[in-house]
This record gives sequence, structure tokens and C-alpha cells, in this order.
Amino acid sequence: MPGAPAAGTELCRVDDIAEGTAKVFSFGDGKELFEMFVLRRPEGLFAYVNDCPHARSPLDWRPGEFLTLDKTLLLCTMHGARFTIEDGICVLGPCLGDSLTKVPVEVNDGVITVAG
Ligand code: FES
Repeated sequence: MPGAPAAGTELCRVDDIAEGTAKVFSFGDGKELFEMFVLRRPEGLFAYVNDCPHARSPLDWRPGEFLTLDKTLLLCTMHGARFTIEDGICVLGPCLGDSLTKVPVEVNDGVITVAG
């Protein structure tokens, strides 16, 4: 994808994202703007492009706010689509069955890094 960070790009330390919250990362600008987020949960890290498959809008209404009130699903606040946290599949809303785009990440010495 245009503007996407190369494998090996360091994002932040795991400890920089409090458990249960997410952090947004932006690369490039203009038509090459690439925005992604990493959600930290007890079961691991989940990283997706911040781009809803319904209308290509960012999901978060405030930076880093990606979860439903009960914190069981990812939410696109533009039109209310809901996605599973584990695989980013839309389970409710106008893009039912579509998916968010995963960003592969790994942790090296406590640093979240874009994987190859
Ligand atoms: S842009 Fe996400 S539900 Fe419409």
C-alpha cells in the first residue's frame, strides 16, 4: 500500500500502549498517507490499517478510540460497522463480511516492529 512502513520499522515500545488501548501511527502524507493502529490486549497485539472497508474512512472518532463500549469488538464510528478484534472481519454494519487490513507486527526486545 502507498505510504506503508517497510518491514523492520519500529513503532513504539509495547509499554507505550496501555493494555486495552490502541495507538495510531501515521506515515507519509497526502495521497500517500498511511495510517494504522495497534491495539494491545491481554491476549496479544492486533494491528490494522485505519481504513474502514465501507467508505474508506478512519475508524476512530477520537485518536486511539477503536472499541465498542463493551470492548469486545472494533467499531467504525462513521456508520457503526463492527469488526472482530482477532481477525478484523465485519460482523455488523454496512460492510458485513468485509475485513480490515491486517498489518503484520512483531515484538523485538520490547519494541513493536512492522514484520515482513
Ligand atoms: S465508513 Fe466505516 S461503517 Fe461506513
